[in-house]
Amino acid sequence: MKTLDFYFKDSIKNHYCLGAYNFVNMEVLKGICMGSAKTNSPCLTSVSEGAFKYMGEEFVLNLFKSAKNEFNIPLFLHLDHGKSFEMCKKAVDLGFDSVMIDGSSLPFEENVALTKKVVDYAHKKGVFVEAELGVLKGVEDLVSADKNIYTKKEEAKKFVEETGCDTLAVAIGTSHGAYKFKGKAELRFDILSGIENELKNYPLVLHGASSVPQKYVEIINSHGGKLAGAKGVDDELLHEACTKHNIFKINTDTDLRLAYFSALRANLDEQPENIDLRKFNTLAIEEIANYVAYKNEHVFNCANKA
Ligand code: G3H
Ligand code: 13P
Ligand code: ZN
Repeated sequence: MKTLDFYFKDSIKNHYCLGAYNFVNMEVLKGICMGSAKTNSPCLTSVSEGAFKYMGEEFVLNLFKSAKNEFNIPLFLHLDHGKSFEMCKKAVDLGFDSVMIDGSSLPFEENVALTKKVVDYAHKKGVFVEAELGVLKGVEDLVSADKNIYTKKEEAKKFVEETGCDTLAVAIGTSHGAYKFKGKAELRFDILSGIENELKNYPLVLHGASSVPQKYVEIINSHGGKLAGAKGVDDELLHEACTKHNIFKINTDTDLRLAYFSALRANLDEQPENIDLRKFNTLAIEEIANYVAYKNEHVFNCANKA
């Protein structure tokens, strides 16, 4: 089976990227794996600190182990937005394939010091480290920011040299959650190209990259949901980032929540007599699987890269 290390280089050389999909339960994980198996794609299955707490250590590890046993594709377990050395150490010790240390809200030198500490520990155990530089607008469980601070190319080079991190998440206009843009969606590819000139062939990461498909928003809104004005990153922009830039990994969480909830809300209305969870969840799993397969094939360009 191909390693994550292989994909750091191959994805840049051959112009595709890996989906990093967040999971919070068996259903979401199963949908992600079914979708990735359909397109024969590698993928990272990500666990945020909030998701780690929600599922608990044993469920995270055993759900992932079951997924690896069931699906014959390269699957990697990734810690998303680790906020402390202790959390990253825990994930490394538990056997995660890679960890993200998110020091993006810290001053540059403190972010360097924290990231380097995680890199030194993780690399000794053969675990890869993603770091972040620049600030994404939006809200997560543990961070919120009301404006973008784009990654500076000179800082990116210095940061990677000083920390030895394996991949770097950059801020070029994406943001977390379902409300990314008020007007036209735009990404700063000029800033990305500048970073790529400084960090030649280095694998970069985009967070906050859900496209917020309007078909899901409409289904949710017409079945009692309230997501007026939700807007994401156009798939064309993401495809450009994957195929014309050195983006190796694209994070998607919100879209899976939307896929899940559109299936759930529509079918709760259509089957008011049903109280069998499995019937609803089967539809939600299938919706996630179809969505992941679509993204892998048409946006991330990673079909048949397993
Ligand atoms: O980037 C953040 C992910 O969407 C995780 O969100 O912290 O609510 O689990 P969460
Ligand atoms: P979205 O909210 O755009 O799905 O971003 C998810 C993410 O960046 C997880 O780290
Ligand atoms: Zn993120």
